Amino acid sequence: EKASSYITRFPVIHVRGIPLMCHIANNWDSIWAFRPDPSDLLIATYPKAGTTWTQEIIDLLLHNGDAEACKRAPTPVRSPFLEICSPPPIPSGLDLLNKMDPPRLIKTHLPFQLVPPGFWENKCKAIYVARNAKDNLVSYYYFDLMNKTQPEPGPFDGYIHKFMRGELSWGSWYDHVKGYWVEREKNNILYLFYEDMKENPRREVERIMRYLDLSVSDEIINRIVELTSFKSMKENPMANYSCVPSPVFDQSISPFMRKGEVGDWKNHFTPEQSKEFDEDYEEQMKDVNIPFRSLI
Ligand code: A3P
Repeated sequence: EKASSYITRFPVIHVRGIPLMCHIANNWDSIWAFRPDPSDLLIATYPKAGTTWTQEIIDLLLHNGDAEACKRAPTPVRSPFLEICSPPPIPSGLDLLNKMDPPRLIKTHLPFQLVPPGFWENKCKAIYVARNAKDNLVSYYYFDLMNKTQPEPGPFDGYIHKFMRGELSWGSWYDHVKGYWVEREKNNILYLFYEDMKENPRREVERIMRYLDLSVSDEIINRIVELTSFKSMKENPMANYSCVPSPVFDQSISPFMRKGEVGDWKNHFTPEQSKEFDEDYEEQMKDVNIPFRSLI
């Protein structure tokens, strides 16, 4: 069966107030009941915050920098996406996880309150990556243009307002970054920033290594930094999502490995849009002090 025959821009359905792709919402009970092994590792992000990059770093750290081992399969097979369910024949995240032995590297975009409680009961390690709001929004906009299973993004100005109102799939960016931030100490969550990874990838790879209680030589750290550069990953068929057929991810509209930069929002927001966004941001973020880089 051709992918084009069962792919469509699926509607979202709200689960406890969070808009999720209908297949996720319809399978919610099994997702919520998922019991991880204590050795499983969770990588959590708002969509487009640097998930794939972090998954590649972690897989390489777990394989002592062995590039070939980390080309054994595409990212979503090596590191399943917990909640994803598309119509058959695409395997769901739970299908893949049930066939794998722990320790597994499990990806999620669920906000903290929707993560299956087994992760915290079993004291699983968890890494969260946050990206500055405007770049995250721009990246998500391009993704929604090319990912034919996501709701239609519509014009950019309207998209900004949907983002501000938390109407995009997986809900509010503001609540997402805050939810994990307030839980990070109690649940031993390593909270990373995309901008820190861009500024000094070596420092962040070492931070992840220490969190995972791994010890990897300097030479191998250098190799991991090189193998996870934007350029290397864009050229790596096991990391650049070329595994997803083009009726689903149309990379001719926008490549999955699109730009990989900090500050690309400046090429997309008008000064007026930026001002309105910043005023709303102040309001939505006033109850926390998460050290995001300046938005200016
Ligand atoms: P852009 O659209 O800004 O280019 P996710 O993996 O969470 O879906 O995030 C995708 C975003 O991370 C895209 O951002 C993508 O280009 C960027 N990205 C992926 N790998 C990267 C890397 N090795 N270095 C920097 N950015 C990377």
